[in-house]
Amino acid sequence: MDIDPQIAVIDYGSQYTQLIVRRLRELGWFSKLYQPAELRETGTPKAVILSGGPRSVTEEGAPDVDYNYLKSLGVPVLGVCYGMQLLNKKHGGTVEPGDTREYGPAQLVPEEGAELFKDMSASSQIWMSHSDTCKKLPEGASVIGRNKEGVPVALKFGDGMFGIQFHPEVTHSHEGRQVLQNFVHMIDDIPRFKMESFKDLLVQQIKEEVGDREVVCGVSGGVDSTVLTVLLHEAGVKLRSIYVDNGLMRLNETAEVAAQFKELGVKLEIVDAGERFLGALDGIDDPEEKRRRIGNNFVDVFFEAAADVQLLAQGTLYPDVIESATSGSIASTIKTHHNRVQRILDLQAEGKVIEPLAELFKDEVRALGETLGIPRDILYRHPFPGPGLAVRVPGEITAEKLRIVREGDAIYMRHLKESGWYDKVWQAYCGLLPIKTVGVKGDERSYEWAVSLRAVVSEDAMTADWVEFPWELLRKISNEILNSVSGINRVFYDISTKPPASIELE
Ligand code: XMP
Repeated sequence: MDIDPQIAVIDYGSQYTQLIVRRLRELGWFSKLYQPAELRETGTPKAVILSGGPRSVTEEGAPDVDYNYLKSLGVPVLGVCYGMQLLNKKHGGTVEPGDTREYGPAQLVPEEGAELFKDMSASSQIWMSHSDTCKKLPEGASVIGRNKEGVPVALKFGDGMFGIQFHPEVTHSHEGRQVLQNFVHMIDDIPRFKMESFKDLLVQQIKEEVGDREVVCGVSGGVDSTVLTVLLHEAGVKLRSIYVDNGLMRLNETAEVAAQFKELGVKLEIVDAGERFLGALDGIDDPEEKRRRIGNNFVDVFFEAAADVQLLAQGTLYPDVIESATSGSIASTIKTHHNRVQRILDLQAEGKVIEPLAELFKDEVRALGETLGIPRDILYRHPFPGPGLAVRVPGEITAEKLRIVREGDAIYMRHLKESGWYDKVWQAYCGLLPIKTVGVKGDERSYEWAVSLRAVVSEDAMTADWVEFPWELLRKISNEILNSVSGINRVFYDISTKPPASIELE
């Protein structure tokens, strides 16, 4: 599955490079990341951006650019930080190592009439992160922007390529988005990226790649696997969609997923493996061992059901592809938790794995889902971990503990949806605290479990903050849970940030 980008971003290793791709896509242009050695594999891009990077262009063996090929493309080129220094060197200028790294905010003062800075303030904050500087400018180069001290921070080279000594992709560069927009506007005749036409392209590619082979797809009820399955269905390929009920799903979840797929017109095979999973978890309280057993059982159950796989479809997304990229080919070194499983690696080696969503970011998967007619409540549901409720019931799992979190969670989610909070949080759930405490019920002493409610906001799940719900809402939820879920006598609200806590309890 390889779709040519409108704008190719060459990755020189800056921590921000992925954001350039993000911003361009937000602006409506399909952009992709390539390693420096892959310049010739970018197809016919309408523009090229050379990213920043941690190295110095003055170092021996520093990543290079095939300048003649770049020039032969005849398209606008923008070098960012390292990219700018590389272009300066290639055009015949010199770059010198600085003594210290200049990091943080500075001001951009555009030269009059600079097209790259059209419609921008006379002075705006930019974000720098560099130590080298362009010392001698090449012949024909002109300065199109300076910092407050008059030092050049933006150049136009004689052949029309541009270089900037700051990161337009980060939000700390206040008008960075405008810089990228101005750059793209230099391209003639570039249509906006439309999800509807991208969907048609994907469908076409799936048809060609799959042919008359049968595709097997694992369904979890989550966003990615649902969009993937419906896309494959839309492509009209021979499809088997398999959903494994591992006994660790939420209240009525399997029935709801089944109903949703029926509504979407996609046939779903449900494998009821609850007893097998719960049997494997019996008496196990170590978190890692629990995960291992769930993972191994999943693979066994899934492949027993799938039998002889001709093709396996995986819902790998673009950030997984980029994150696992090392030098060399990006797509060949995909490493996500799931495809580290030997069984899948073998299939991959045999060319039997397809990843139709591998070009897309999460929000784009949702947009694709919308064009496929998938209901909003599926596309915007909170993430749910693969090991299911097992990571929300610390220690040994029992049927009673699972019942408690199921009932508590259903009440919690209903209140969040009714109050409009569900869509404002990244993830929320009810977990079980494996301690028994004393309470009173009627005239009786009780000695029962406690539940913990968690709700976080996050950008990417790497860090998270807890949500400040109104007290009244928490009071209503707590009252209903205490009154209607048996086996507990306390409700806690988790006010831990990540780090040091994680989002899940295990
Ligand atoms: P933690 O608990 O590590 O969770 O802060 C971060 C995000 O990842 C989800 N999560 C998982 N998702 N398989 C998954 O598919 C897993 O094993 C897994 N563990 C955690 C978690 O729900 C949160 O969104």
